[in-house]
Amino acid sequence: MERIDPGLAREGKVKIDFAETRMPVLRYLTDRYKLIKPIQGKRIAACLHITKETAMLMKALSAAGAEISLSGSNPLSTQDDIAAALTNFYGIGVWGWRGQTAEEYFSCIESVLGNPPHITMDDGADLTVHIHNKYTDLIEGISGGTEETTTGIQRLTALADAGKLTYPIIAVNNAETKWDFDNVYGTGQSVLDGIMRATNILIAGTNFVVAGYGHCGRGIAMRARGLGAHVIVTEVNPVNALKAVLDGFDVMPMLKAAKIGDVFVTATGCKDVITAKHMKRMKDGAILANAGHFNVEVSVGDLERLGVRKREVRPNNVKYELEDGRRIFLLGEGRLVNLVAADGHPPEVMDMSFANQFLSVLHLIKRGKRMEPKVHPIPREQDEFIARIKLSMMGKRIDRLSGEQERYIRSYESTI
Ligand code: ADE
Repeated sequence: MERIDPGLAREGKVKIDFAETRMPVLRYLTDRYKLIKPIQGKRIAACLHITKETAMLMKALSAAGAEISLSGSNPLSTQDDIAAALTNFYGIGVWGWRGQTAEEYFSCIESVLGNPPHITMDDGADLTVHIHNKYTDLIEGISGGTEETTTGIQRLTALADAGKLTYPIIAVNNAETKWDFDNVYGTGQSVLDGIMRATNILIAGTNFVVAGYGHCGRGIAMRARGLGAHVIVTEVNPVNALKAVLDGFDVMPMLKAAKIGDVFVTATGCKDVITAKHMKRMKDGAILANAGHFNVEVSVGDLERLGVRKREVRPNNVKYELEDGRRIFLLGEGRLVNLVAADGHPPEVMDMSFANQFLSVLHLIKRGKRMEPKVHPIPREQDEFIARIKLSMMGKRIDRLSGEQERYIRSYESTI
């Protein structure tokens, strides 16, 4: 595609080669399946953040025989050097570049669908929903799809609940080897990385407000505390709020947090979490960032309306001056700060997430046509398989239950 600059390909390949050294499970799967090629000739349409970690997944699937077309899953998250390397060195059809308009973003999804898929692979559900809305003629040929993220699962569950989902989706996000690692440690570290790259502020001593205490919010709160912040959590879910309290965080409504926060990060999957009514109470210098999939959590429209002047002060950091002279800084245009201002989740956690993607594709090619059109959990054995390989690649060994112990934990008899 003309927006991909082949001049960047070598730089991208160096980064992919680096990721390869940190992703042993994907390496293992590549070696295991590259000779038998269980998905030979199968076409995969993928809509994922185009990063060096995604490149490793594309390489693994391609080695297993798949023909892949890939578009970016966010207008600002594509790493252009990686897109160029995938096209130039690995024969992957890529449609995506950083800084797309909404029209360009969807036209790239349409280009991917030009190669009618057997499998869809999504991060946020734009590809799958687009097929269901506009490309229903492709559905017949599709065995199933995978979904990488919480927001995507939420949307596809709504589609299934409305009786409109037409092929099975495997909820990769909900694998334990995905959300307990990628969402917690991956988001936690990369969000702090993004905020620090975009601002270079000292996190220690800040009042650091995290909206949402799901897996991602928990990771962000944990890492902000590790850097010395006073962390405040806002929630709508009483169970999550209670977890935050018992984890030692302050919990309060956003309207109250708005007055004291220095840094605000949203990780809720919902819209209008920070709006004009909060911005009007904020301190001079407040920093706003979003870690959720869509750019709807911080109301950028409200900030645009409240601001009388606006200026980029550093890459991915825009200052809005309000009428009364207060300044509010918005990072990454309110899009995923970890992918816009940093590199996204580190390869060590994406290794497990993408091993789940890889194995789910194999599962769907084999069994997808016999599965119900609903959102399915990943098979339990898959989680354990991935965790075992990861541990062994890390040089860690664990105990095994004896036969006697197995019988004990499966028994209902009292031992008193
Ligand atoms: N989502 C979050 N981080 C990512 C990464 N590094 N690669 C692909 N998708 C991601």
